[in-house]
Amino acid sequence: MHEIIQQLDAKREQARLGGGQKRIDAQHKKGKLTARERIELLLDPGTFEEWDMFKEHRCNDFGMNETKIPSDGVVTGYGTVNGRMVFVFSQDFTVFGGALSEAHAEKICKVMDKAMQVGAPVIGLNDSGGARIQEGVAALGGYADVFQRNVMASGVIPQISLIMGPCAGGAVYSPAMTDFIFMVKDSSYMFVTGPEVVKTVTHEEVTAEELGGAVTHTSKSGVADLAFENDVEALLMLRRFINYLPLNNREKPPLRPSPDPADRDDLSLDTLVPDSANKPYDIKELIIKVVDDCDFFELQPDHAKNIVIGFARMEGQTVGIVVNQPMVMAGCLDIKSSIKAGRFVRFCDAFNIPIVTFVDVPGFMPGTAQEYGGIIKHGAKLLYAYAECTVPKITVITRKAYGGAYDVMASKHLRGDVNFAWPTAEIAVMGPKGAVEIIFREEKGDPAKVAAREAEYKAKFANPFVAGARGFIDDVIQPHETRKRICRSLVMLRNKKLENPWRKHGNIPL
Ligand code: HXC
Repeated sequence: MHEIIQQLDAKREQARLGGGQKRIDAQHKKGKLTARERIELLLDPGTFEEWDMFKEHRCNDFGMNETKIPSDGVVTGYGTVNGRMVFVFSQDFTVFGGALSEAHAEKICKVMDKAMQVGAPVIGLNDSGGARIQEGVAALGGYADVFQRNVMASGVIPQISLIMGPCAGGAVYSPAMTDFIFMVKDSSYMFVTGPEVVKTVTHEEVTAEELGGAVTHTSKSGVADLAFENDVEALLMLRRFINYLPLNNREKPPLRPSPDPADRDDLSLDTLVPDSANKPYDIKELIIKVVDDCDFFELQPDHAKNIVIGFARMEGQTVGIVVNQPMVMAGCLDIKSSIKAGRFVRFCDAFNIPIVTFVDVPGFMPGTAQEYGGIIKHGAKLLYAYAECTVPKITVITRKAYGGAYDVMASKHLRGDVNFAWPTAEIAVMGPKGAVEIIFREEKGDPAKVAAREAEYKAKFANPFVAGARGFIDDVIQPHETRKRICRSLVMLRNKKLENPWRKHGNIPL
């Protein structure tokens, strides 16, 4: 009996070594932690329950029968983050470069299936050379099995991917179908094909960093939501991030009581909007001053900066924040910002997270680049997302709400629950200058007449009271009381029930 216990310990010890000390040292030398070290940092101490530690691949080609390494390149199981259940898989680069075999895929599928049954998030720590080349189609099948589960889990349990090494080929498509992607700077890459293939096919010379590094994906492509300095920072921020989310789509997000009073006024907000309608101001100041403890977890801060998204809490309750940023492109909606915010709104809706929208938008971005790029279809994504969404929606118009963008940004007409405007709000088809140029074209040569027309238009429409008179705005509020009014509205909406008609699924303009 004793001997068999010793055997177990020895087997575990061997599995923990993965691809061996030499490869572990190489991993550390690159500034990367091993798969197991990462899990230890992510989960609450001592809570990790590992599964399939002794699982091996079944490939006998290319000498693979002589290299069977227990765990087969991925560590899987479950544990808790701040006391809440999560399932996790962590790819082990020291074993065949973390490449995915049929057995490796089965391990990932096992945790995903159980996560779905018990209703808990899946966190993937990705560090993989893609499909295990020696296995051929068996590995490709394994990927597809994971993809299918990603899709079935979408909107049921949160799925979060942390990219912590190279991810090529199939290794990028599973993360692409998860809800959030975080990367580590200088050590993680995501591309469908690497620099060598790019050179052969398109004759472009590009480094791995330029092609698919963290900066590329958090600024240019928008594929990733955030980039962190190193493995440790990424894992600790992921622990913080998960606190905002419910465990599944049947639960509400956890409440985290805050000492910040719900009725706290902020007088500095009364002077936030400048006197001149064309002068920008930083809308992030408003977010910070309104949410609990000035604590805002921003996502995609370096991509499509004309819209700001992220999570915060109000009176302890998680809210999704969507805000036009007048500092960038005057806060116009364009292709990238519509996609960025549209996807975020849909996540919040799927997981019972109320949405707070601050509006200062002069309209959709004009021009050939936008039209040829399909702004009609992409802008419609945000419109569709807001219109479809049934979670509580609170909207505050701080300044401009012009044209189609007024409708899109959680207006009353798209089932906004509580729509406020500041006294500085201007709700109209367009700004006074553009409006006068069109409807009084014949007076164009007479500056005095044009000025008088603009003043007339401004007096009539550049205020919140016309919309208020129609009930499109529930109240015009003082900027300093914004937090209090939103908090009250959220409490009122806590048990909101609204269902869309039955259908197989809608057809969002993809
Ligand atoms: C088997 C692999 C592997 C793979 C790496 N290794 N990728 N083994 N299958 N896909 C092994 C290496 O042989 C090596 O083994 C160890 O992992 C570390 O690899 P290195 O190349 O030494 O490391 P590094 O220099 O850091 O480069 C990492 C890398 C590179 C960028 C990931 O290995 C690479 O380009 N690999 C191939 C990537 C790829 O083309 N994958 C297939 C994609 S197609 P030893 O024994 O020396 O330690 C795909 C199809 C799915 O995924 C499509 C579904 C839609």
